Amino acid sequence: MSAVSLATTLAGVRLERPFVLASGILGVSASSMAYAVDRGAGAVTTKSVAWDPRKGHANPVVAPFEHGLLNAVGLSGPGASFMAREIAAFRARCDAPIIASVFGASPEEFARVTVELAKAAPHMIEVNVSCPNVSSEFGVPFSADPVATAEITRAAVEAAGGIPVATKLSFHCPSLAVMARACEQAGASALTAINTIGPGIVIEPGFRKPVLTNTIGGVSGPAILPLAVRAVWEIRGACTLPIIGTGGVETLDGALQVLMAGASAVGVGTGLWRQGAGLLDELNRALEAWLEHEGCTSITEIIGVARA
Ligand SMILES: Cc1cc2nc3c(=O)[nH]c(=O)nc-3n(C[C@H](O)[C@H](O)[C@H](O)COP(=O)(O)O)c2cc1C
Repeated sequence: MSAVSLATTLAGVRLERPFVLASGILGVSASSMAYAVDRGAGAVTTKSVAWDPRKGHANPVVAPFEHGLLNAVGLSGPGASFMAREIAAFRARCDAPIIASVFGASPEEFARVTVELAKAAPHMIEVNVSCPNVSSEFGVPFSADPVATAEITRAAVEAAGGIPVATKLSFHCPSLAVMARACEQAGASALTAINTIGPGIVIEPGFRKPVLTNTIGGVSGPAILPLAVRAVWEIRGACTLPIIGTGGVETLDGALQVLMAGASAVGVGTGLWRQGAGLLDELNRALEAWLEHEGCTSITEIIGVARA
């Protein structure tokens, strides 16, 4: 047994390992989430669901490029009752914490979906106010507006019946510090940062056409790591809520940067798409070895150290 502890806590929820399966990757069924836990996830986040099932955009919805991924999945999802059943099935077999990701077109829909998912007793609710590739449907993402973000956070907190709520922020907002404080005042227990950014475009020169049917898609993967690190840094400076630092982590170095900026846990999404789910255990092992080499006994010793 290693003398190093990778355990961390988020709003009172204990994770034995710090890597969290980010929303939208392997998070649709109980079995796919268990698959991520078996490969090293300390917690899993479900795919975001609205009340009704959603079809999302037409294929192709994902375009890989050298430094990451463009996606325009368009929040396709199975709807709230289906996801509540999957959460309950996961809980019956797995001990790892599960975070239920909620999406809606209005604060009322966010609340309604939260009530439904809360019945399956997830360890945390995550409110996704920040998807950038559905603007043609929903207009400017709520995450650009601290008042709208706070209203949705408050609605989810009231609907969650005591389950801690994390608000998932976007890099695209007038001020991450203002946004973080607005969520804290609205009752959030944690923050996740960041969602995909952009959106961007990948063009296939031979055909002189964009690769995605939707033309534009949110950018994720290594290209956005420095933005995620900065987001965590600013949020940490603005409030005391624990942060799930997410964006571009697929190496030990990336994970250390996110933790040292002040995140208590590290979300991983695109890295699994690019490298397979075994990446999670590779990161756990690399982090453990690095901490041991540095003479640390717990991951908590490095959270936020770059800010000192
Ligand atoms: C294919 C794909 C689907 C995603 N779907 C969701 C989603 O449903 N809800 C959400 O909050 N974030 C979603 N995201 C964003 C990720 O959870 C994450 O915040 C973002 O991709 C940055 O992390 P990464 O670089 O590790 O992927 C999605 C990302 C990708 C690549």
